Amino acid sequence: EFLAKMLATPAGEPTVVSGPAVSVTILFASQTGTSEGLAKKLLKTLKKGNFEPELQDIATYDKEKLTKESNLLLITSTYGDGEPPDSATDFHAWLMSDAAPSLAGVSFSVLALGDSSYPDFCKCGIEFDTRLEALGATRIFPRVDCDVEVDEPYAEWSKGVLAKLSPTVDTVAPIGLVDASGEDEGYSKKNPFPAPVLTNFNLNQGGDKETHHVALSLEGSGLEYEVGDALGVIPANPPEVVDEIIAALPFKAGTVPDPKGEDISLRDALIYHYDIGTINKSLIQKWQARSGSPFLRSLIEADDKDAFKEFAWGRDLVDLVINYPADFSDSEDFVSVLKKLQPRLYSIASSPRAHPGEVHLCVGIVRYKSHGRVRGGICSTYLSDRLSDGVKPGVFVHVNKAFRLPSDGATDVIMVGPGTGIAPFRAFLEDRKATGAAGKNWLFFGNPHQSTDFLYQDELQQFVTDGFLQKLDLAWSRDQKEKVYVQNLMISNGAELWNWLQQGAAFYVCGDASRMAKDVDQALNQIAEQHGGLTSEEAAAFISQLKKDKRYLRDVY
Ligand code: 2AM
Repeated sequence: EFLAKMLATPAGEPTVVSGPAVSVTILFASQTGTSEGLAKKLLKTLKKGNFEPELQDIATYDKEKLTKESNLLLITSTYGDGEPPDSATDFHAWLMSDAAPSLAGVSFSVLALGDSSYPDFCKCGIEFDTRLEALGATRIFPRVDCDVEVDEPYAEWSKGVLAKLSPTVDTVAPIGLVDASGEDEGYSKKNPFPAPVLTNFNLNQGGDKETHHVALSLEGSGLEYEVGDALGVIPANPPEVVDEIIAALPFKAGTVPDPKGEDISLRDALIYHYDIGTINKSLIQKWQARSGSPFLRSLIEADDKDAFKEFAWGRDLVDLVINYPADFSDSEDFVSVLKKLQPRLYSIASSPRAHPGEVHLCVGIVRYKSHGRVRGGICSTYLSDRLSDGVKPGVFVHVNKAFRLPSDGATDVIMVGPGTGIAPFRAFLEDRKATGAAGKNWLFFGNPHQSTDFLYQDELQQFVTDGFLQKLDLAWSRDQKEKVYVQNLMISNGAELWNWLQQGAAFYVCGDASRMAKDVDQALNQIAEQHGGLTSEEAAAFISQLKKDKRYLRDVY
């Protein structure tokens, strides 16, 4: 029928349209630019059909217009600890509040971007979707959630939405739903560059923490980055865990097709292509169906989010395979229940101006013991433990347009980056030094102990000695009885921090989203009240304006 027809229309051919053009507003809420990219792609597609599309950034969207929208397509990511992207904070708070208007007459659909390795997967998209309906708007196509990988779910969603929006069956919408532009010649997420490892060592001097400095060569790759960008790394799973899984499976390991369709061994598929590190609800459901375990059945039936979380915590696929034996006919059947192994993004810790042809990462190595087993983060232990013998990790550059140095080097910058949050700020400092940026620099860093956890100590102290880093405030949380955190040092330097802000400084935060970034935000509010003499409402408005002016930027995870 017509969908098939519409997909069969070759790209670029004139399209048959009839009836009045349908007005559509594409509203995007983007943190690092992925939602924005999809929104622009959708705009292009709609422009080729019988639509009057309008693209709107949620940061600058006029809320008064919302009740008048006929078709609203919302593309949003979730950021930090289940929060809206920074650009959507205001709109989100307003829509969730009692001030939100009735939206009867508005048709909508939501595309939600997220990462299911975080507990509040796609939370912001889910909230928008639920709230729009509760306000009386009509959902024309069910929300689609993207788990890191956006291309396929985007294609499904845009296809579904377009079909609903096309007023008559003889309307032939253009194609372009599936990216027809073809593979780039260069290295990209789909075609990662195998990067030679130049250096790889633990930055901690003993102690409990392990943080690796990993320098990779980009020589000859054609890959370029700017400070503020992230590097995508394609990890590989530990072979010994894969072998344990295979040994416990009820069938003889055979072959499965790899992403290119070529047959590879189940062992290689489990090492390189499937996620064996996280258990989520959907996997438990599929597992239960094949295992008949009464315990898993009761877990599914109870449908309690906390119970799922508790079960999933500290367990991996290997625990399911061993403790909840399930029926699988063969290798292909087995991998059909697994998620694809996803790349991990690390904030880049180097400036290309300071290290031409190289990219550096600062990686917190995750190791823990649970349910009688020593475990680790897949990608962090891959980088720390499994890069021997000339293994070259596959990498690509993930542009983060929202986390940039001020374009004017004369602007002062305040950077708050405890733990591995130091990464982009080492890059910022290197970059500002290389470009001769005249603005002042202030860094807040923190970690448990000065003696073991002072990451990049020599470099940072050299910057201070050179008079380039004007202020370095260090929060050693466990070197004294009372905890000292970066936000405590912000508060004790509140008057000066306020002065810097008044003189136009940009404020940056990188690191833990669930606690640190929230506490830092609160400290900022407190400083605006105490030293700016603002009421709490005025302080909140001041900070929201800082965000709008792109002077309060966060890279939190
Ligand atoms: P802690 O683990 O000793 O409590 C990097 O992880 C540093 O951030 C550590 O010193 C850690 O302290 C600290 N940290 C933990 N929770 C924090 C919070 N809510 N705000 C700021 N820093 C925090």
